[in-house]
Parts: sequence; C-alpha cells; structure tokens
Amino acid sequence: MEFEFVKKDKLKEKPKKNLGFGNYFTDYMFTMDYSDEKGWHNKKILPYGEISVSPSTMVLHYAQETFEGLKAYRGYDGKIYLFRPDMNAKRFINSNKRMCMPEISEELFIDCVKELIKVEKDWIPNGEGESLYIRPFMFANEASLGVHVAKSYKFMIILSPVGAYYPEGVNPIKIYVEDEYVRASLGGTGFVKCGGNYAASLKGQERAEKLGYTQVLWLDGVERKYVEEVGSMNAMFLIDDKIVTAPLLGTVLPGVTRDSILTILKDFGFEIVEKHLSIDELMEAGKNGRLKEAFGTGTAAVISPIGELYYRGEEVIINDFKTGALTQKLYDTLTAIQWAKSEDKYKWRLEVK
Ligand SMILES: Cc1ncc(COP(=O)(O)O)c(C=O)c1O
Repeated sequence: MEFEFVKKDKLKEKPKKNLGFGNYFTDYMFTMDYSDEKGWHNKKILPYGEISVSPSTMVLHYAQETFEGLKAYRGYDGKIYLFRPDMNAKRFINSNKRMCMPEISEELFIDCVKELIKVEKDWIPNGEGESLYIRPFMFANEASLGVHVAKSYKFMIILSPVGAYYPEGVNPIKIYVEDEYVRASLGGTGFVKCGGNYAASLKGQERAEKLGYTQVLWLDGVERKYVEEVGSMNAMFLIDDKIVTAPLLGTVLPGVTRDSILTILKDFGFEIVEKHLSIDELMEAGKNGRLKEAFGTGTAAVISPIGELYYRGEEVIINDFKTGALTQKLYDTLTAIQWAKSEDKYKWRLEVK
C-alpha cells in the first residue's frame, strides 16, 4: 500500500509499567480521507497529535461515527500477531453500512492496520498479558449543519499499549442488571460499533458504578425481560451443562471473542444454546444452583468471570464469587492462541512482518 510517512524528530519515552487501558498513545497515527469524487485517498502515517475540525463538523452534531477494537500481540516466539483482524474488518463494513458511511474493504482495513503496526512495532509491550490495543475509527467530517448523510469522512487508527487486564490473575466482577435504561432495540444500531450506542449507555453505567458494580447487564429494549449483553462484552452462562448466550439478531454486538469462545466451547463438546434467556430464569438458575458459571467475553479482558448479578433488589452470587474452572480454561486456551503459546489450530493468528 502506498502512503505518505511524516517522520517525527524525537520519539516518545515508552511507558514501562502500570500501562492500564487507553492511557498512553504511540508516536504515530494512520489517517485517510474519503470523498464521493475521490473515494479513499490521502493515506498518511503522521505523528500522533491533535486534529483540527470545524465547529460545524457533522460528527459533532449527528454522531455519524464508527469504530473497532483489536490488538497486536508480541508472541512467545517473538513474532508479531493480529488476532482475527478479518472479523473486525467485516464488522466495520457492517457498521459503516448501517450508519450510511463509506465501505473500507477487508483488504484495505487490514493493510492500514498492518502498515501502522510495522512502524510502531517497538511499542508492542512484551510483559505477561500486555498488548498493543488498536483503535480504528471513522467519522463524518463534512462541515455543514442539517441532518443528512455526510459527503466526506476521515478514517484514522491510533494505538495504545495496554497492560494485563488482570495483573493478579483473572478475577470475578459484579454486574448490575439494568431494568430502566436500554442500550438497543430491534431496527436500531445494537449490532453496530458506533459511538452513539456507548453515549446512550453511560447513564446506566454511571449508576452501576455508583452502586459498586463494574458493568451493566443490558436487557432487551422492548420488554426489559431478556438478557442481551454486558457494557463492553458479550455474556455467557453455564446453566446445568449447557452454555446459554443471547442470539445475534440485531441488538447485540457480534463479538470476535464471542465467536472464538463459542468455537472453542463446541470443540470442548459443549452444547451452545443461543436464545432469549429471561432475567427471571437466569436469577432463578442462580438461586437454585443451576447457574454454575457466568462470564463476559471481549477483546479488552478476553474473559471476565461474573461473580455477582444484582437485579431489582436481589443478588445472586455465582460459583462462590470465584473464577470457575471452565472460565479459567477458556481464558487459558484463548490467550495461549493469541500470544502464540499454542498451535494456531483455527488459523486465527495473522503475522505482521
Ligand atoms: C457492546 C459490546 N459488546 C461486546 C463486545 C465484545 O466484542 P469483541 O469480542 O469483538 O471485543 C464489545 C467490545 O468491543 C462491546 O463494546
């Protein structure tokens, strides 16, 4: 791929510890522009820094914006890998279609990510559980008011070295089941990774945090009865000996980790039930011991065991608030693939060289 590379004189000092999530950004960023006349053009790798936009830039008013999230890993073999970037590229295409934004082909998306990673390879941290988070995003940058589909867009990629999500090992989280606010409903944008979904979710997240919970479990937007997903993760439940999770029917984000974990679970011999699980059935299963384990799946944490569910004044503790054996095994299996500790059985790693 051809692009302009604007070099910096002095590179930043790389942080060595306490990376956390999304706190540091690398030296460079990728940008390209879209117009109906020229298509995607102006491909550049520039020093990471501020961008200026007009106050009338459409995204600031009407939120025409989409994004993705994936990681680059420094494998145990010293090589650099992306994990299933084709899935992110496909989801980005679907998001952009829904938001009336221009398509970036799977090939172009992956090429842009690879070129930036090659420039920034020294930023991939190599401590246990550390990785380089990749945030591609697109927004409407036409400067005019009036609600309509914009004519011009910018696509950018920024990178952030991130620490192990659980520096002391995988730990269960407390989840607040939200029964007032909703995240998505049929016909809306629940299946899409667009900023607006997250803006609308803040109210519920704020309440959950105030009450001492880590994240919200969303219920369906019509009846507030069926379990959908967690704030930034898909949710799975081991009830009796089956895995139950919400189906992908338009209101839930199709997680890359969700797909990977379901594939591994099928390989382990588990029956997967994708169904509208009512919150009453879930709480009941929690109370009578049928709910053996629960966990969220997502790029940031890989797997988050759910140790407690709170719903309308009642709480259910799952597996004595300990990480379940299956949850741990899934975490170990998937992270071994991501960091190239095990063979790439499903052909999910893409080496960047
Ligand atoms: C709402 C929501 N659901 C699920 C996920 C998990 O998706 P993935 O596994 O692709 O990170 C995310 C994270 O991106 C999310 O924001």
